[in-house]
Amino acid sequence: MLNEKNVRLGKVRSSIRELFEYGKKRKAEIGEENVYDFSIGNPSVPAPEAVKNALISVLENTDPVALHGYTSAQGDPETRKVLADYTNSRFGTALTAECFYLTCGAAASLTITLGALLNAGDEVITVAPFFPEYRVFTEHAGGRLVPVRAAEDTFAPDLAAIERAITPATKAVLINSPNNPSGVVYSDGDLKALAALLEKYSEKFGEPIYLISDEPYRELVFDKDIAVPYVMNYYDRSVVCYSYSKSLSLPGERIGYIAVNNKMAEFSEVYAGICGAGRSLGFVCAPALFQQLIKRVYNLTADISVYKANRDRLYSKLVEFGYTVVKPNGAFYMFVKSPEPDAKAFCERAKGYELLIVAGDDFGADGYVRISYCVSPELIERALPSFEKLMKSYK
Ligand SMILES: Cc1ncc(COP(=O)(O)O)c(C=O)c1O
Repeated sequence: MLNEKNVRLGKVRSSIRELFEYGKKRKAEIGEENVYDFSIGNPSVPAPEAVKNALISVLENTDPVALHGYTSAQGDPETRKVLADYTNSRFGTALTAECFYLTCGAAASLTITLGALLNAGDEVITVAPFFPEYRVFTEHAGGRLVPVRAAEDTFAPDLAAIERAITPATKAVLINSPNNPSGVVYSDGDLKALAALLEKYSEKFGEPIYLISDEPYRELVFDKDIAVPYVMNYYDRSVVCYSYSKSLSLPGERIGYIAVNNKMAEFSEVYAGICGAGRSLGFVCAPALFQQLIKRVYNLTADISVYKANRDRLYSKLVEFGYTVVKPNGAFYMFVKSPEPDAKAFCERAKGYELLIVAGDDFGADGYVRISYCVSPELIERALPSFEKLMKSYK
């Protein structure tokens, strides 16, 4: 008998992947330019030129045996030191290289962190809408995901609802800001209130509740007055799961890190758990070449001006056409209210206009759809008449 759960996971594609595959088929049938594919979150801007130059320089100037060899499981010490110094200079923390653990992207950061923290039956609260893989990762670590719906009009965390969901089995709260799929950035006030709640219940139950912050979109914010609060400045028992997939447009290269807050009393135990989970999951070490790259380009971001322009254009037109949208401040997604209660039916109808958008059901928020706007501005322009006709079909 095989592991039924994994067999099922391998057979059933996520609805995003399903739609992405449909899009490929449809493009072959009617031409790439006639399909408006907003299904997937693959960055559409190239990595900065400096990334290519740094890679070439590393390849040309480093001993190849050392370069392509295993690194320590935590990652190259110099890279970790650079990340600690950079984080301290940005956020006023006092982290050291020993707080960092380099990973194969945010997905690995999350599976390792959950593996370190959870025992069988532990609960992980997350704010819905949420990245659907959270459920897979949490269950793999033996836990149970407890989604708590965000405030309807803003998608900010609903603190009262989170409080109602906390039980003695709550081991962690997992947040993601800027958020996939709503694009919302959590405020200073949200973080303060959340931290106070976690302090209160850690004390009440005599067991720590951790705050895991999934941050692949940290650098993707479009408005000068919007800052993404740094969780370590709010809550001692916090762990940051970071990735360069979106900030440097390197999703296929698999590079990111975990940073454990050294202000928590049990820091050494948690960090040891991270090392142990990375080991038992068989990650060995993050890609060595990209560890060397990050040491050189840690402070760069891909040109996100296209995403901002896309956000502005799409948002203003969708509102004009009569859609209800919370304006996203970051990431490259828009979460739009479905004009009919069944978002899946709406997405099916959208297909008739060659629009590929994903129902919010898998993100734990039915009644909404996700539009992934990390596409070319030309695609947005071509798609606008279809968005308009689609809305008119409901009138
Ligand atoms: C919210 C969120 N977390 C984690 C990930 C995984 O990122 P990575 O490619 O760095 O593993 C994604 C990818 O889209 C994401 O949207």
